[in-house]
Amino acid sequence: MQLFRPRRSVLYVPAVNEKALSKIPSLACDAVIVDLEDAVAPGEKASARDRLRQFFAARPACETVIRINALSGEWGPDDLALAAALRPEAILLPKVETPRDILDAADRLAAIDGAEEIRLWAMVETPRALIHMGAISELGREPAARLVCLVAGTNDLVKETGVLVTPDRRYLTPWLMQMVLAARAGRLDILDGVSNDFRDLAAFETECREAAAMGFDGKTLIHPAQIAPANAAFSPSAAAVAEAEGIVAAFDRPENAGKGVISLDGRMVERLHLEQAERLLARAAGNSGARS
Ligand code: COA
Ligand code: MG
Repeated sequence: MQLFRPRRSVLYVPAVNEKALSKIPSLACDAVIVDLEDAVAPGEKASARDRLRQFFAARPACETVIRINALSGEWGPDDLALAAALRPEAILLPKVETPRDILDAADRLAAIDGAEEIRLWAMVETPRALIHMGAISELGREPAARLVCLVAGTNDLVKETGVLVTPDRRYLTPWLMQMVLAARAGRLDILDGVSNDFRDLAAFETECREAAAMGFDGKTLIHPAQIAPANAAFSPSAAAVAEAEGIVAAFDRPENAGKGVISLDGRMVERLHLEQAERLLARAAGNSGARS
């Protein structure tokens, strides 16, 4: 069985921002995405690569991901070669549109010695990616494709579709739910897009709670102040942990051994609920191993 890896709080840091990069080791995010793409202006791409090298000379303890530029563009191929040499846990591919985009990156990595362990994450941020969501997520079942995680790119989706952004994200929600469903079909993790308004933490907490309810594993972040609320929102609550422990204990009782369905506190509980409870407890245990 694959080990649970928390990805509740995944912080973007522009590769050019030396001050922000230096803060990463002191932050309690589950993962960091060092960005060579949207957060780096065209004139800064070369210096961003230098900073990235320095950052990896003393890499932090959290999961570390590099977002490269699109492989179809001017900078992507060199970004991928550099990223592969730095051995992050994963490379995040932007503007993915079809399964071929992921397989191309996987083929390039397969040709590089020492890059065997590097996984791929993919941004879902274009209309074409949404149209091809099912085929893209199927790659999660093919180890050679290396795909382990999808990331909603809501800013680009808004730009590409012209959809109106409201505080409750009502017009984006159908697409977000489509991503969650596809991710589950492909056994992938799925992370929600960023909240640009990093000063409004009350709105951010609401957005995290809703994303957790939608089934997201975590949220991508732009600012350190967003880490603690994301860690809280994407961790199982104390009440949920207590309920799961109750279900496990009930099925452990001798009188329930071998039973498919039991009654617990006036509710029907089946073995599928036991599996669900065990999964939740594994998540809670994995989170407590991470810094909160
Ligand atoms: N990662 C790590 N540290 C960060 C950070 C980040 N993403 N964003 C801000 N910080 C640090 C700042 O360096 C500052 O450090 P200090 O206390 O030592 O001075 C502290 O947190 C407070 O920052 P603040 O002044 O509130 O924000 P800012 O004006 O410096 O930065 C942004 C605001 C939005 C420009 C910045 O947060 C950012 O670049 N975020 C990531 C953007 C990104 O990667 N986008 C691409 C994906 S959507
Ligand atoms: Mg983008």
